[in-house]
Amino acid sequence: MASVLPSAPAPSSRPPASIGPRHIAAADVHESLNEHLLVDGYPLVVDLDKSHGSYLYDAKSGHEYLDFFTFFSSNPIGFNHPRMHSADFSQRLLRAARTRVSNSDVYTSLMAEFVTTLERTAGLPELPYYFFVDGGALAVENAMKAAFDWKRRKNIAAGRSALGEKILHFEHAFHGRSGYTLSVTNTDPVKTDYFPQFIWPRVPSPAISFPFRAHQDEVLAREAACLTAIEDEFDRGRNEIAGILIEPIQSEGGDRHFRSEFLAELRKLADTREALLIFDEVQTGLGSTGRWWASQYHGVTPDLLCFAKKLQVGGLFASRRLDDVEDHVFAKSGRINSTWGGSLTDMVRATQILRIIEDEALLNNARQRGHELHVGLQALELRWPDHLSNARGAGLICAIDLRTPALRDAVIAAAMAEHMLVLACGTTSLRFRPALNVSCVAIAEGLGRLEAALLRTLGRPEPKITNARGGTPAGPRRASDGNVRNLRGRRSRR
Ligand SMILES: Cc1ncc(COP(=O)(O)O)c(C=O)c1O
Repeated sequence: MASVLPSAPAPSSRPPASIGPRHIAAADVHESLNEHLLVDGYPLVVDLDKSHGSYLYDAKSGHEYLDFFTFFSSNPIGFNHPRMHSADFSQRLLRAARTRVSNSDVYTSLMAEFVTTLERTAGLPELPYYFFVDGGALAVENAMKAAFDWKRRKNIAAGRSALGEKILHFEHAFHGRSGYTLSVTNTDPVKTDYFPQFIWPRVPSPAISFPFRAHQDEVLAREAACLTAIEDEFDRGRNEIAGILIEPIQSEGGDRHFRSEFLAELRKLADTREALLIFDEVQTGLGSTGRWWASQYHGVTPDLLCFAKKLQVGGLFASRRLDDVEDHVFAKSGRINSTWGGSLTDMVRATQILRIIEDEALLNNARQRGHELHVGLQALELRWPDHLSNARGAGLICAIDLRTPALRDAVIAAAMAEHMLVLACGTTSLRFRPALNVSCVAIAEGLGRLEAALLRTLGRPEPKITNARGGTPAGPRRASDGNVRNLRGRRSRR
């Protein structure tokens, strides 16, 4: 029978001419990107093959940089971990990357493997509902939507006319730059100015000043004032507040730590005032504090927990409190969704990362290396007491303050000259975000390079005045003085 289809061209015996992208040499990368993008990032070009562990290799200069930046705290196990090169993992990664599946509606074994691994490792039994989306801002945005939906349904069921369309949040918060999150982000005005925003209740955030013992009274007074302000907001906007949103450690806003007792008060308020407690763990999550989640570090479980960054996949966990209403967003189709529902490639990478964190006990490593970094920062603070203050740490989330923003920026530039990458936050803070598998050698090296950067910027410290016994007048500060966990008098559950 004659075919009605046009005859297919005979397969060519020659391989097709390469149509791959033209190679762009490292020296030309910035100029090439600059034609279309605002290229205001680092002057580096990362060599993804030569970078290793906590060392980022700059293909432009040939220098290695000690990486305490980790792509804004989103690279959990550094570069080129041997298990990221295993044949099995490489094959699964490639399979997921070849075709981008719409995970919300079409399911794969690879996705199921990710979800079960997540549940087994970092999952919290109290938070059984999961949702995935690309990026941190959309994770927080969807948590807010879950809260709005929950509160409106509660109001309707109780015959109340209140809309429940407000999110109570905190000064110095950073939750992202998407539609709803712009209304709760209030760090650098450059990120929010001239964009439309909702006016939602914003209360002061009672961060700890370190060493805590020296500032205890003022911290407790700030907490009390904040809790009163929250009560007032709930009284004023009766049943309008759907959720209380907080970063358990405010990161971009200045590595501002809260006492566990304060977070526990927020838990109580969310329960008594019929609102959902939302923890934005986009930066604090997946091991940085030495626990999977800062919520475990503090022993306070939220109703909604947002993640992204180190987990590679954005999204949220939710508690059974959502079941108070029928048809909540995890039960009714189409209420929160996106085409891809997160990226399958990211899920496969995340699965491998979760296994590595588990097998290599990297939460433990984060605790130990974080302690070393924290103690080192405290020692530097003692050497330059006129310039450095507020050394603080929770696991690997460590920071220290400089006297002025200009000095802070100068130290970051000097650290770069010492081939070390560190991050700014708040107005005068330096934050450190090493990978979870950072070695003690790299921590010691980081402290050495930081010291060199401080010497470049601040000069030699004044010689210490010693007392008759040869000690410093105040005596050496104990490492535990600035550690938030030691302020709790209680252990976290995981
Ligand atoms: C606490 C917090 N929430 C949300 C975000 C936004 O995440 P993304 O940049 O992935 O949208 C960030 C990013 O730095 C963050 O630190």
